[in-house]
Amino acid sequence: MSEEASPHRTAAVIPAAGRGVRLGPGAPKALRALGGTPMLIHAVRAMAASRAVSLVVVVAPPDGAPGVKNLLDDHALPERTDYLVVPGGETRQESVRLGVEALPDDITAVLVHDAARPLVPVETVDAVVEAVHEGAPAVVPALPLADTVKQVEPREKGEPEPVVATPERALLRAVQTPQGFDRATLQRAHRTMPGVGEGATDCAGMVERLGAPVVIVPGHEEAFKVTRPLDLVLAEAVLARRRANDGF
Ligand code: CTP
Ligand code: MG
Repeated sequence: MSEEASPHRTAAVIPAAGRGVRLGPGAPKALRALGGTPMLIHAVRAMAASRAVSLVVVVAPPDGAPGVKNLLDDHALPERTDYLVVPGGETRQESVRLGVEALPDDITAVLVHDAARPLVPVETVDAVVEAVHEGAPAVVPALPLADTVKQVEPREKGEPEPVVATPERALLRAVQTPQGFDRATLQRAHRTMPGVGEGATDCAGMVERLGAPVVIVPGHEEAFKVTRPLDLVLAEAVLARRRANDGF
């Protein structure tokens, strides 16, 4: 990618302010170690690995920004990459909004990447960046589903939930991050869509509600989100395989 010729300056916003309730008790999820290194550092390096990304904004747990700043100071990033740390909010949507608001004026394209997806390959990051630079207002990496999905009528815990519908699996995609945006589009989405309840779990969904087009690029199995304890086992195995392969 010839970013020298590009009129774009691209930043990555990394929401890392969640607790990680589903992962179980312990430090905030983004600070939990993977192969001895905090998950957040893996995620920051994954964004910085793309030559197009010149700035990384980490959205830290609300009371943890100074600690996260120290952590980033202690871990080397490529020289071309600057970073900033801002405190996050109550929901992912709020945390992303706070990160986007901290972007300098000259940033024209924004990646939003979950700290909880530490192992996304650079090829996926580059594919998203490229589609944004080519003019797509919103780009999401996604994969076909393995499981069939049912829509249900939620009931109290323990009560059987009636199935309402079975969407055709071939038409569904599981979306990952980094999601890429034209900066103005992402900002408009956040200013138009007030965070309610849990907030949006996906920035592209907010852009869809604005009526702007969202396109898919191929996602990657290794871009999975570390959500539950078993995901940590998988992440450690992926890292171990990478380290073994690098040894050759
Ligand atoms: N996130 C955030 N601010 C919040 C909530 C979530 O920045 N208030 C971030 C998380 O740190 C994570 C990403 O959004 O990198 C995706 O969210 P998720 O996987 O749900 O992480 P958590 O909210 O931490 O996990 P859980 O829902 O199990 O508590
Ligand atoms: Mg969450």
